Amino acid sequence: MTSLTVTFAGLSLRNPTMLASGIMDETGASMRRMAEAGAGAVVTKSIGREARDGYPNPTLVELDDGYINAMGLPGPGIDAFEEEMAEAVKGPSPVIGSLFAATPDDFAFLAQRMQRYGAAAVELNMSCPHAKGYGMEIGVDPDMVRSIVREVKRAVDIPVLSKLTPNTHRLLEVGKAVEEGGGDAIVAVNTVKAMAISVDARRPVLYNRTGGLSGPAIKGVGLRCVYELYAAVDVPIIGVGGIETADDALEYMMAGAVAVQIGSAVGRKGIGVFDQVTNGMTKYLEANGMNSIGEVVGLAHE
Ligand SMILES: Cc1cc2nc3c(=O)[nH]c(=O)nc-3n(C[C@H](O)[C@H](O)[C@H](O)COP(=O)(O)O)c2cc1C
Repeated sequence: MTSLTVTFAGLSLRNPTMLASGIMDETGASMRRMAEAGAGAVVTKSIGREARDGYPNPTLVELDDGYINAMGLPGPGIDAFEEEMAEAVKGPSPVIGSLFAATPDDFAFLAQRMQRYGAAAVELNMSCPHAKGYGMEIGVDPDMVRSIVREVKRAVDIPVLSKLTPNTHRLLEVGKAVEEGGGDAIVAVNTVKAMAISVDARRPVLYNRTGGLSGPAIKGVGLRCVYELYAAVDVPIIGVGGIETADDALEYMMAGAVAVQIGSAVGRKGIGVFDQVTNGMTKYLEANGMNSIGEVVGLAHE
């Protein structure tokens, strides 16, 4: 018998796939559906203190090999999200609350609320490339990242995951800052800052002009980030970026990820993607005489 169970940072997942933040996770019902479809954990849409409209359309461009989105972090705010969490936690997989804020205090406040709502962990979005004053704007500053992680760790008992941006030459310094702040895990990566231009309109396509590239287009970037972080920091890493198949997920795990998140592929391939990836992992273990998916982690470094 092979096992896909993974345990890290105080979390135990029945398989190493997780739904990434921002895709089919705005309501409790859709998060439950993803868990029932096979996701080993689900991450909520990033939630802030107040309700936000996000940007006007267009907010999403579809490409051959992914998407560029600039949603602008729309959402109901943390008070209204209590109802969605109440539904989401009835599903078969742990629910991880993704949060965005501009200060350590606000992150800590939101994390306490998510803990109260039943989240198994929080994921700090320090990496969104298209929301002014949030996300990547704070996540490229190692001192800020260290303070945020430290403050949130003081505020809650559940594991604290930090989601990093690939849009910086200081990735490893930021990773170290997470470790120094006492962070339980790193999630790498959020989207790659990008844009698209309409030749007919002679204008950028997105209302916000720039956005975040996701899907197969960024797999090589995400993999490189995970590989480098694994060698540089002593914190479990969750890999994300362009994962659509079992081989994609195995590549990330061989680069050093203990688990993976899947976002764009849910839109591109449907919710069956979690089962496809986990079935492929089981086949790989059987074909290679391995007992547990954990044996794959970091193999590309040996
Ligand atoms: C439409 C859309 C919305 C997203 N919203 C969020 C979000 O709210 N918070 C966040 O941390 N990441 C967000 N992301 C980034 C994804 O969680 C993920 O890091 C990224 O898309 C790369 O993974 P993928 O190639 O599997 O999509 C979003 C991505 C997309 C495509």
